[in-house]
Amino acid sequence: MPLPYNQRTCYCAEVGPDRIGQTVLLVGWVHVRRNLGGMIFVDLRDRTGLVQLKFDPSIAAAAHETAAKLRSEYCIAVRGDVAPRPDPNPHLKTGAVEVTVRELDILSSSETPVFELLDELETNEETRLEYRFLDLRRRPMQAALLTRHRIVKTIRDYFDEHGFVEIETPFLTKSTPEGARDYLVPSRINPGTFYALPQSPQLFKQLLMMSGFDRYMQIVRCFRDEDLRADRQPEFTQLDVEMSFVQPDDVLRLIEGCLARLMKVIHGIDVPTPFPRMTYDEALRDYGIDRPDTRYDLRIKDVTELARKSSFGVFTEAIVAGGVVRGVRVPGGASMTRKEIDTLTEDLKGIGAGGLPLVKVAAEGDKVVFQTGIAKFFTPEVAAELRAAMEAEVGDLLLFCAGPAPEVCHYLAWLRETVARRRNLIPKDKWNFLWVVEFPMFEFHPEDGRYYAVHHPFTAPRDEDIPRLEGDPLGCRAKAYDVVLNGVELGGGSIRIHRADVQQAVFKRLQLTPEEQELKFGFLLRALKYGPPPHGGIALGVDRIVMLLTGKDSLRDTIAFPKTARAACLLTAAPSPVAQTQLDELGLRLAAPPKPM
Ligand code: AMO
Repeated sequence: MPLPYNQRTCYCAEVGPDRIGQTVLLVGWVHVRRNLGGMIFVDLRDRTGLVQLKFDPSIAAAAHETAAKLRSEYCIAVRGDVAPRPDPNPHLKTGAVEVTVRELDILSSSETPVFELLDELETNEETRLEYRFLDLRRRPMQAALLTRHRIVKTIRDYFDEHGFVEIETPFLTKSTPEGARDYLVPSRINPGTFYALPQSPQLFKQLLMMSGFDRYMQIVRCFRDEDLRADRQPEFTQLDVEMSFVQPDDVLRLIEGCLARLMKVIHGIDVPTPFPRMTYDEALRDYGIDRPDTRYDLRIKDVTELARKSSFGVFTEAIVAGGVVRGVRVPGGASMTRKEIDTLTEDLKGIGAGGLPLVKVAAEGDKVVFQTGIAKFFTPEVAAELRAAMEAEVGDLLLFCAGPAPEVCHYLAWLRETVARRRNLIPKDKWNFLWVVEFPMFEFHPEDGRYYAVHHPFTAPRDEDIPRLEGDPLGCRAKAYDVVLNGVELGGGSIRIHRADVQQAVFKRLQLTPEEQELKFGFLLRALKYGPPPHGGIALGVDRIVMLLTGKDSLRDTIAFPKTARAACLLTAAPSPVAQTQLDELGLRLAAPPKPM
C-alpha cells in the first residue's frame, strides 16, 4: 500500500520532543543522505525546515533498501516513529529528535541539481534564475518569500482596521506618467492602437476618491520600462493608498503606523513615531541626495566662500562659473592607504567626476596642518578656517568636489555612501526612517529646454505657490513627501490637485497644449468638474520594504520570479519573438528582425 501522502501528520520543523513516541507521516525532499555504520540518515526538508530520518535495516529492511537509492532532491513520503536523538544537533530546530522510518515511498526522483541547495551559494545568478524552481527551494529564498507573505498580510490587516477598501484597477489601460517608459500592449480588436500597462494606478485611485470611496488601498503590480538597478524591477508591487479630506499629516501618520507595525511584527522592534522630517533642500544640502541615509554622519559642508580664498584653480574656476565647492570629512580617514584613495578616485571618475581633491589633517608639533593633495593651495589661515568649517580633527581626511551644485551633490552623495560602506561606518542594527518634505514642483531640463514634474503632474502645489505656476515655476513647492529607510526611497506621495483650473495650469507649465491635455487626460479634467473631494495619498514599494526588512541587497531576492537587469526572465526565456501569424493578427510589422536575448 502506498503511503497516503495527503495525510501528512505535520511539517518537518514541527517534529519536536513533544512528539517522542508518536508515529508521524512526513513528506518532503531529500536534503542530504549519509551512510553511517550500516544505517542511512537523511535530512528531510520542507518549507519549514529539516528533520533527521534514520533508516535502520534491523527495524525496516525494505525501507532501508529503498533508502539506499535516495539522492538529493528526491521527493519522498515516510512513516516512522519519533525518538530522542542520541547525538542532538543544537544547530537544528528539530535537533533533539529523529524519525526512525518504517515505510518509505519515493514520490519522484530528481536529476542531480545544477547547484547545491546551500544557504550561501557561490553559483552565478544567471544559473540561479534559469533554475529558479530549485533556487526557491533554498532556505534563504523560502524565508524571504514567507516574510513577504507576512508583510503583505500585516499591511492588508492594518489598512482593513483603518477602514480602507481594496479595489482593483485595470492593467490594460492608458499611459499614466510616472517618469518611465510604458510597456505597450497592442490591441487586436482595434488595430494600430495600444494599451499601456500601468506605471501606477495613480489616476484610477484619484477617480475612486471622486467616486466617494474615501479610503482606498491596493497591493498592486506596476510596470515601468526604465533602466534597472538592484532596487528596480520592470514589474514591481506597490502598496497604493489614497484618502479623501486629508492633509499631508494624516497620510504621514497613517504610513508611520503601518511601517511601525511591520517593524514590530517582523523584527519585534518598536520604532519611534513620528519619523523625523527633513526638507528637500536640507537633504540635498547636507546629504547631496533626496533619500539620505542618516545612519552615519559624514555630512556635506558647503565651503564655497573659503574655497574662493584658495589658489586652487579647480575651485576658483568652478566658483567663477557660478558653481559651488563642498566637502565631506572622513573621520580617521588620514589612515586610508594610497591604494584605497586611488581606487576611490578612479571609481568617482567612473561616474563622471573630474578628480578627487583632498587633504589630510595632521599634527605638526603643536600645530594642525593640511597635508598632501591640495594642501599647498591654502594659506595656514584659510586652512584653519576650512578645518573649523568642516569640524575636522587630526587624523581626518577631507574630500572635496567643485562645480555646478547638482553635480557636486551627485558626486558627494556617492562619495559619502561609498566611503561609509568601504570603511564599515554603517551600523547594521539601525532603522532610520525619515520623511523628506517640501519637494519642488518642477525641475528644468536644459537639454530640451522644458520643465518636468518632480513627482507627477497631479501633485498639488502649496496653496501659497499657486500664483507662481506661471512666472516662477522653480520656486513652486509641492505638497509632496517621500518616506526613506536607511537611504532607500520606500515610497512617495502627495496631496493632489482637485481643481480643474490648477490642473490645467500645471499641464500648461509641462507644455501640454489644450488638445494634448484633452487627449491624454480628458477623463480626469471631466471628473474634476463633478465635485471632486480634496484628496491625497502615497505608494510604497512592497519589494523594497521586503528587501530592507529581510536584509537583502537586491529586489531579485524578494520576488519569486524576477527579471534580470536586461528585463529578461531567464526561467521562461521572456521576452521572445512571436509567430508571424500573431503579428499579422495585430497588424504589426517588425522594422528589423527580432534580437532574442
Ligand atoms: P513613485 O513613482 O514614487 O510614486 O513610486 C512609489 C514607490 O514605488 C517603488 N518603485 C519601484 N520599486 C521597484 N522597482 C521599480 N522600478 C520601482 N519604481 C518605483 C518605490 C517608490 O518609492 N503614483 C505615485 C505614488 C503617489 O503619488 O501616490 C508613484 O507611483 O519604492
